[in-house]
Amino acid sequence: YKNITIAIDGPASSGKSTVAKKIAKDLNLIYVDTGAMYRTLTYEALKNNVNIKDEEALLDLLSHTSITFERTDDGQRVFANEEEVTNEIRQNNVTNTVSVVSAHPRVRQEMVRRQQKMAKSNGVIMDGRDIGTVVLPNSNLKIFLVASVKERAERRHKENKQKGIFSDLEQLKRDIADRDYKDSTRETSPLKQADDAIRIDTTKLTIDEVVETIKNLINTKI
Ligand code: C5P
Repeated sequence: YKNITIAIDGPASSGKSTVAKKIAKDLNLIYVDTGAMYRTLTYEALKNNVNIKDEEALLDLLSHTSITFERTDDGQRVFANEEEVTNEIRQNNVTNTVSVVSAHPRVRQEMVRRQQKMAKSNGVIMDGRDIGTVVLPNSNLKIFLVASVKERAERRHKENKQKGIFSDLEQLKRDIADRDYKDSTRETSPLKQADDAIRIDTTKLTIDEVVETIKNLINTKI
């Protein structure tokens, strides 16, 4: 599996990153979390008082921001230039504004360029919204993960509880539905299943079941 590429797309909180991390570890692939890249730019914009509606200003900020990942035992750390932003980019203020940043066509263009570069000489498993459609249209396997809004909100709620973060289930449902709406209706590369992607509904599956399903697909298809 040296130079294979696997694309995992799907809506917010559908389990993409959890599943992708596990497969990356088992198959020794590099995991690229493209959502973390949009989140990092959003975090930097909020921190530096850059107007997230101003594409030109965001592009300028992005050109000065290198976004890098460092693998750890149970996941990865994210850095903006030399500063670690792993936890900061998961905060609510970032989550609830990132879809505005990611809708700018030229911001996407630059992110896609960086993502394609990362996949060039490595075996990668990449997750996001437009990986199978735009970033890696020739990937060896494309997966589209979905789950009901209710299930996704409940998973996130449970996760928050474990981390000791307060969250309101009904609010989580609204936030997830809102982000789905924005991500799938934007003009430039909206969230959309690629024609040749395999759809997996994870609503009634455990993480391990999803991982097994995808590994079987890798074994039979690649
Ligand atoms: O995957 P995650 O939920 O962390 O992504 C955060 C946001 O980044 C998404 O809601 C979407 O607006 C944007 N995104 C994107 N294209 C990608 C990955 C993420 O537009 N490939």
